[in-house]
Amino acid sequence: MQIARTVRELRSALGTNRAAAFVPTMGNLHEGHLSLARIAKATGRPLVASIFVNRLQFAPHEDFDSYPRTFEADCDKLRSAGCDLLFAPGERELYPVEQTCRITTPPGLGDVLEGAFRPGFFEGVATVVMKLFGCVQPAVAVFGTKDYQQLMVVRRMVEQFNLPIEVLAGPTLREADGLAMSSRNGYLDAAQRAEAPALARALQALAQRAAGARSLQALADAEHEAMATLQARGWKPDYLTVRRRADLAPPQAADLATPDTLVTLGAARLGTTRLIDNLEF
Ligand code: PAF
Repeated sequence: MQIARTVRELRSALGTNRAAAFVPTMGNLHEGHLSLARIAKATGRPLVASIFVNRLQFAPHEDFDSYPRTFEADCDKLRSAGCDLLFAPGERELYPVEQTCRITTPPGLGDVLEGAFRPGFFEGVATVVMKLFGCVQPAVAVFGTKDYQQLMVVRRMVEQFNLPIEVLAGPTLREADGLAMSSRNGYLDAAQRAEAPALARALQALAQRAAGARSLQALADAEHEAMATLQARGWKPDYLTVRRRADLAPPQAADLATPDTLVTLGAARLGTTRLIDNLEF
């Protein structure tokens, strides 16, 4: 695996790794990331990954400074997944001057749910993904369904900017007890780790109730109960909600009768760790 630390090194290494399948990451890699790398590898294209902890997508009070940086271990994992080229720029390389050109994300998609609770998050994500796309110029890019809304924002950006990139989605990988794999799971202490699968269970229960709901009021009640269930277990939920898969808008009455069009999404804090998850149904 070649490692490029600068855009110049990347460009020269891309000479032999053109039209790559690309997996952007912030490092601290787990099986979920590696499953995305395997999807990229299966395209038969050169596999390019990136590791860059992107300051732009963290609010000042968030965990940018403490975000785990595990570069050597990440390199070993990427090598074992067959990665051909790793782009791992420093901050000054990717943001040599203040990044004043930013991607504005679509109203109704980028400013709801995660976008409402983490203002500026999707602008930061979309901006760095656009920059990484400009650097790597991949033919294919792979993103995890775990970050459901991020995937939708990236897809919308690729469509609306006519980027010649096929976006593939990798399914969420889960631990044996149902907890969605995430770099932030490492922040949990033993008791919190044991409690953490309750988020996935709450979303599953909400999906079941929503699938049987015959009115918007029944849906609202189910969402309210899902939040209350987690609260009673000591969580601080930001949202547990049912949305349309197509645009993340709240469902209309007609949507309730249409199978396979809805998704439950949730974000909740356990201690100081904020976890997100989702489930299509
Ligand atoms: O999902 C992530 O790890 C990040 O949001 C991404 C896409 C690498 C952009 O920094």
